[in-house]
Amino acid sequence: MFGFGSDTNALTMNKSHPDSLLDSSVQDIIGKPIDRIDGPRKVSGTATYAAEYQLDNVAYGYLVRATVGAGKIRSLDATRAKAMPGVVDVITDYASFIRNPQQGGETSAPAQGVEDVAYHGEIIAIVVAESYEVARDAALQVSVDYEPAEGRYSFLAHREEAEKPAPQQIPPHHSQGDVDKAMADATHTIDVTYTTPSQNSAAMEPHASLAVWEEGKLTLYGAYQMPSSDKLQLAKALGVSADKVRIVAAFVGGGFGSKLGIAPESVAAAIAAKRLGRPVKAVMARQQVFDATVRRSNTEQRLRLAADAEGRLSAIGHETLVSNLPGEDYFEPAGVSTHFLYAGENRLITHDIVRLDWMLAGSMRAPGEAVGLIALEGAMDELAEKTGIDPIELRRRNEPEQDPEKKVPYSSRALIPCLDRGAETFGWSRRKPAGTDRRGDWLYGIGVASGARSNMLIKSAAKVSIDGQGKAIVETDMTDIGTGTYTILGQITAEILGLPIEDVTVHLGDTDAPPGAGSGGSWGAASSGTSVYLACEALRDKIAKAMKVDAGELTLKDGRAIADNRSVPLAQLVGEGMAATGEVSPGSQEKTFNQASYGAHFAEVAVNVITGEVRVKRMLGVFAAGRILNEKTARSQCLGGMTFGIGCALSEELVHDPRNGKIVNRDLGEYHVPVNADVPQLDVDFLYERDVEANPLHAKGLGEVGICGAAAAIGNAIYNATGVRVRDYPLTLDKLL
Ligand code: MOS
Repeated sequence: MFGFGSDTNALTMNKSHPDSLLDSSVQDIIGKPIDRIDGPRKVSGTATYAAEYQLDNVAYGYLVRATVGAGKIRSLDATRAKAMPGVVDVITDYASFIRNPQQGGETSAPAQGVEDVAYHGEIIAIVVAESYEVARDAALQVSVDYEPAEGRYSFLAHREEAEKPAPQQIPPHHSQGDVDKAMADATHTIDVTYTTPSQNSAAMEPHASLAVWEEGKLTLYGAYQMPSSDKLQLAKALGVSADKVRIVAAFVGGGFGSKLGIAPESVAAAIAAKRLGRPVKAVMARQQVFDATVRRSNTEQRLRLAADAEGRLSAIGHETLVSNLPGEDYFEPAGVSTHFLYAGENRLITHDIVRLDWMLAGSMRAPGEAVGLIALEGAMDELAEKTGIDPIELRRRNEPEQDPEKKVPYSSRALIPCLDRGAETFGWSRRKPAGTDRRGDWLYGIGVASGARSNMLIKSAAKVSIDGQGKAIVETDMTDIGTGTYTILGQITAEILGLPIEDVTVHLGDTDAPPGAGSGGSWGAASSGTSVYLACEALRDKIAKAMKVDAGELTLKDGRAIADNRSVPLAQLVGEGMAATGEVSPGSQEKTFNQASYGAHFAEVAVNVITGEVRVKRMLGVFAAGRILNEKTARSQCLGGMTFGIGCALSEELVHDPRNGKIVNRDLGEYHVPVNADVPQLDVDFLYERDVEANPLHAKGLGEVGICGAAAAIGNAIYNATGVRVRDYPLTLDKLL
């Protein structure tokens, strides 16, 4: 390998990036709707997911759950299970040691012996057998003697005891001015309470881990979104140093937050594998994913708006109650974009936690906005109705000139352009007064909602090399959870290095590679994309040096380095190979600018006047999220988000048994996510945007803005159809009759 200058291009995001190599590119690969480069592997069954790795001598683990909602395990008798043919062992002394799989969260070390049961369904043991079927059968033979304790299972019964969470990255409380006084003085006010239920991410691939120990080092093939931090969590849970743990998550079948942190099956598999001296594969059953990973918290959101006669807001109050286990500080940040979406001098945004002995609450797709915008955008629709102002015009009148709380400018903000474009495309002008568009037994209506999602940048590193054949290899432990990461990282590399995308190989999800941002919070593409961009830039500098020219004089095209009147094949130039790394770290950006992606959601629904049944007829989402890195994968993200919005609006609801907190509808037969018949024509449109303050890619987060506001648009369409405002989500037919 040639050793020209520094091998690493590092960047701390505290300056803007008006000049990017991408803007003088000769390739024009970035942004193109090219097919997923991992697509052929996925459709031919050769993309290996965690549970699919085949190793010799593997044993199968099946998790055992607690069947009380609170209490202690007095004893756990595995005699019968152990006596079953094919059972290898029953590991009972690891108990409930993982409660907080949130990103950056602390994971308790494994405790030995009898443990408290924190919630119904919590994992308390693992049965290991020669086959999955035997392990599952034997798990039913493990008998547990509990000393039950009184638990808190009712949100309504305990809502008065809600407590303020500890201060953290997203401040739970913000107050400015006097919302009460503004409400008293206002011409128009809205004071309403919206509720949303617990939800499950319902990723298609259940959580799965295959653990192998070799010479004191663990390799865990797992279904995880953030391998670098998952590795730290796992090492901590196991009481080993991080360099003894390697996580491989090359393909992940969706996560939506539920795989941000480690789940019980990883620790259980790792402990069992170590003890037995053989690989152990533990795949959570679908019911266990519902029981014992994370749920999105239910919310109760009081939304207050005060406005003058022209609909200009003088106050916004967004007070949210959520639930979580005792000792857990994570709260569903429902008010997170209420901080900056609309103007208004008096503001109160709070989040308090009701302590319940329900399954752990954690991140689920667009934590905060996904359900928070149901309340804010529902209330805005109510204000529009009350003031007689068109909902889009009302939003236009409340467009802030700067962040109304932090008093900093927006780096880029295209909310109104999104609304205007959508209005035109969707036929907003044809909207009729509420309850007046009856066609046979169906009432038709259309609704709109704003969407917003804060942009985040997470520390991320990547290595890019060019091999002796002149082909590029990208390595980072960033993941592709179905989002298109493989493809966009390939596109960035191909673009900067002047290679056809076929000549770029992307390796993801292995913690032996440089630590990437992981997939979460819509930060993945921009963060890991920037690290790859920086690595390519550093590599380009090295190539320029090899050519003995300034980088500015170099053109990389068609696998050749071109400068002056020389044109050298990269394969020849790099000799044995050449490599560079790139790393991006978050800087002071968020203090200088408010940075978010925006969208506008439009929905048309029909509501049956006899049955109350709601059918979504069509939806349109218009989004502005900086540079779109691949129009096809970006569009797929938004389609998925909007589909999530349909479920959120109409059907998704975890039901907790009031006697023990048990999740009653713990499978996809009973927890209703939208199926094809529920999803009509969805259209996605992107506005051209470059956010030069974001990163050298000029891209902002996109993965989650597709759900932000989608459910509210459906709720508002239902109101427009029926004249009935239901504030208790999901909007099932019984509530509409
Ligand atoms: Mo997302 S809920 O941050 O994976």
